[in-house]
Amino acid sequence: MIYLDNAATTFPKPRKVVAEMTHCLTHYCANPGRSGHDMASKMASRIYDARESIADFFNMTDPLRVVFTSNATESLNLAIKGILKPGDHVVTTAMEHNSVLRPLKELKGIRVTVVPADKEGCILARDVETALSPSTKLVICTHSSNVTGTILPINEIGRLCRKKGILFMTDASQSAGVIPIDIQAQNIDILACPGHKSLFGPPGTGFLYLRPGIELVPLKEGGTGTDSASLYQPRYFPEGYEAGTVNGPGIIGLREGIKFIEGLGMETIQQWERHIIEMLSDGLGNMPNIQIYGPSDPSKKTAILTFNIKGIDCETAAHELNHRFGIAVRAGYHCAPLAHKAIGTYGIGAVRMSPGIFNTEEDVRKTLAALQKLSG
Ligand SMILES: Cc1ncc(COP(=O)(O)O)c(C=O)c1O
Repeated sequence: MIYLDNAATTFPKPRKVVAEMTHCLTHYCANPGRSGHDMASKMASRIYDARESIADFFNMTDPLRVVFTSNATESLNLAIKGILKPGDHVVTTAMEHNSVLRPLKELKGIRVTVVPADKEGCILARDVETALSPSTKLVICTHSSNVTGTILPINEIGRLCRKKGILFMTDASQSAGVIPIDIQAQNIDILACPGHKSLFGPPGTGFLYLRPGIELVPLKEGGTGTDSASLYQPRYFPEGYEAGTVNGPGIIGLREGIKFIEGLGMETIQQWERHIIEMLSDGLGNMPNIQIYGPSDPSKKTAILTFNIKGIDCETAAHELNHRFGIAVRAGYHCAPLAHKAIGTYGIGAVRMSPGIFNTEEDVRKTLAALQKLSG
């Protein structure tokens, strides 16, 4: 199978990720922070190591404010529901995933302004500025779109929010691990991330980071292994926000994923993915029956190429690619309906190819040959 669905979750995972998870599961996978025996202590200490790796990787000041979650959706829900209160105004963008848009829809008593995007999926920082009001508590902007790959102007938005004293949250689901992120330099107050995409951890991992000083109401109450005589949920980081047994082996895998990126170099990963995307774009560009969406300049996006084939609906195209050619892509709305409205594909959806570091030039040649047959 040629796997071109890395924007959903990366595959394969690096060998070291699998090896360290297997070692954990076979040698010391106890429940961290609950019991005091050696295995539980070892697990707790490895999980702390993972918090430190994440903090170093994104230049966060306090590893204890890295809250482990099961995916980016949980991270975003925790931040949105734990920060916003009735009467608050929030500004977000048309390029957001449903894991931002749906929790905002559910919340009662808050006002939401959605900043529009252009045909390439880009938004302007000055439109964000115009949308602000005296009651704006939070601005949420994805770092890069999961529909078009478009990189959004988070540096400008971060600067703007810091100047105005408004909290700024970035959804780094499509960028963490492929675009450098320095949360202090970029004025990011809150970072929501999956662990299973370009950070190469397994599914079931993610995290939320909040800069010191930001208060948060927990999303769930339960066992934390601390203050156990109290019936009330503690409000300290990280335990207060990680009720229940954490995904220890997954977190160990996530740490190895970050080490894999550090070993290879983020620039190497980015350059290879750009090369693959450029080959795919050039090839598709020569096929008259294919329409490509999003930025044509690969430096303005992450490794995503979204398109439609004239006369074939996107689900059928994805099905044919899978069954006839052994190529894995994703079709439909990609959980981002407003982004599809922006690029003009609402009502029809589109096919998304998202290559990764393990794809080869041979994969590209076979994919282009398959698309030539399908579209010809
Ligand atoms: C931009 C964006 N945000 C959030 C999510 C949700 O991520 P998860 O599946 O880890 O919950 C995704 C998943 O594709 C995404 O692309």
